[in-house]
Amino acid sequence: MKIFLDTADLNEIRRAADAGLIDGVTTNPSLMAKVAGDRDPTDLFLDICKAVDGPVSAEVVALDKDTMVAEGRRLAELADNIVVKIPLTEDGLRACRALTAEGIRTNVTLCFSAPQAVLAAKAGASYISPFVGRIDDISGEGMQLISQIRQMYDNYGFGTEILTASIRHPAHVVEAMLIGSDCGTMPPKVLYQLLKHPLTDKGLDAFMADWKTLGKDL
Ligand code: E4P
Repeated sequence: MKIFLDTADLNEIRRAADAGLIDGVTTNPSLMAKVAGDRDPTDLFLDICKAVDGPVSAEVVALDKDTMVAEGRRLAELADNIVVKIPLTEDGLRACRALTAEGIRTNVTLCFSAPQAVLAAKAGASYISPFVGRIDDISGEGMQLISQIRQMYDNYGFGTEILTASIRHPAHVVEAMLIGSDCGTMPPKVLYQLLKHPLTDKGLDAFMADWKTLGKDL
């Protein structure tokens, strides 16, 4: 499963990319608003695209199809690794179809049901982003949606990649991988939780303490 970092924070992106931990980045208007400040958003997208060797989802902010397509084209021109993120609305699916026809990659976002995911695939989406954490937040079963989409896409041979989004903890990552999600996007906090285990820390402390008793350098 490809691991994407869900942030627009350049320091976090550079840290994770330098460590070889991520395959791409996803952003959304809220994440951009958190860090962009006075910066031109397109400059920030450009810097993100340079910082990571993989797809970078950049979201349109218009609500009507024609403006979404115009924004999508502008975003796609910024860098080869831009994926245009589009909300799952009727206009969004129209824009997705139009951009796909022009060879522009798309990520259809804000997916909360299996039928929505099927319509996005039929519109030619490169990625579908079901938000598992937000479904869990309202007492739903986020991961069940990933299973349903996996099965439906496989049954009918849809090539749209499932990008499990709104991941809140490492168990979501493991479950997404067991189901066969193609990608998962998570905030930096969850990415580094994947790396940590108390027994690793404890074991390392013991190894270091034992080595010290030798009184030698390596
Ligand atoms: C994905 O594309 C979204 O940016 C993101 O995963 C949403 O996560 P949240 O529900 O934690 O805001």
